[in-house]
Amino acid sequence: MNVFDQGSAPAMFAAVAAFAVAKIVAGLRFPKINKNQYRYVGRVAAIWIFPIKSFKGMSIQEADCTSLGIKWKEFRDRHWTVTTADGIYLTMRQEPTMALIEPVLKGDQIQLTAPGMEPVSFPVNPDITNNNVSKVIIKTDTLPSVDCGDEVADWLSKYFNRPGLRLHFSAPSQTKRDASNAKKLWEHPAKPGDLCAFADYCGYMLLSKASLMELNGRLQKSVPITNFRANIIIEDCEPFAEDTWSSLHIGDVHLRALDACTRCIMVTIDQTKGVKDKNEQPLATLKKYRLRDPYGDKPCFGVNHTCDKPGKIKVGDPIYATLS
Ligand SMILES: *[C@@H]1O[C@H](CO)[C@@H](O)[C@H](O)[C@H]1NC(C)=O
Ligand SMILES: *[C@@H]1O[C@H](CO)[C@@H](O)[C@H](O)[C@H]1NC(C)=O
Repeated sequence: MNVFDQGSAPAMFAAVAAFAVAKIVAGLRFPKINKNQYRYVGRVAAIWIFPIKSFKGMSIQEADCTSLGIKWKEFRDRHWTVTTADGIYLTMRQEPTMALIEPVLKGDQIQLTAPGMEPVSFPVNPDITNNNVSKVIIKTDTLPSVDCGDEVADWLSKYFNRPGLRLHFSAPSQTKRDASNAKKLWEHPAKPGDLCAFADYCGYMLLSKASLMELNGRLQKSVPITNFRANIIIEDCEPFAEDTWSSLHIGDVHLRALDACTRCIMVTIDQTKGVKDKNEQPLATLKKYRLRDPYGDKPCFGVNHTCDKPGKIKVGDPIYATLS
């Protein structure tokens, strides 16, 4: 028989009081973690923008976070891409020396410099006409773009010794890629409207310095953070803490985690030499300890995010997150 069945008021009061005390004591020993509560998790250590897919990136002190990725002045993250004559995108997976081409903003032009080449320029905001709208094929998507003209196309063909290459720009008014269209073997984390221009999957990639230091502790030759081409580098957290954050607030900006960043041969490219590591490091090491469900044989390093609320961020900003 339990006390509540007795119908005695004092007994019931005692039982309720005892239960309340037990709850408080348990609460002190095991404080309840409210996963939906935003807490300080780290700081912005660096911000990187990669205007042209697979080309050299640029470290900036502050940036606009848009629904399509980082924007700095007229540079927009992964809004330009090189393609074959047929419009099929190329990356440093096929052409590792892409890493050596540096885009610089010069007034209303983008200037490209590369070893052994005279610089070349093209307009940062080209007019869209019937004559220069063209198609880009990235993975399973075919998208409209603006062709950036013959001069830069010839320059790229010469640099890569590969005829017929073109440079494409995803103009603000043109259709974007939607992460929710990507094929996934697990429950899809992206919602329709989680957009990007020419990025592989989504607008943002985050990585902590602590995760890199942890990895470097396992490597004979350490690698710099630039091998991983993340947009927001985080400090003041534990290694792989970023894996546990489901949504982030940085200033006014809200980011939402989609998937782990699954890694490929690209991380083996020395970004200052434009060559792949002969021993496939650091990918080989990552494969030994960073395989996680449900991502199969691609190791995880960093996290892919999308932007729910745009705004400005700067280096040093505190980051608040909910836990997954
Ligand atoms: C697109 O075509 C217009 C008109 O021919 C031209 O003014 C503009 O420079 C072209 N843009 C590019 C990127 O070639
Ligand atoms: C995360 O983003 C990277 C880079 O855009 C992409 O290559 C990778 O496939 C994405 N990961 C997942 C699990 O979709």
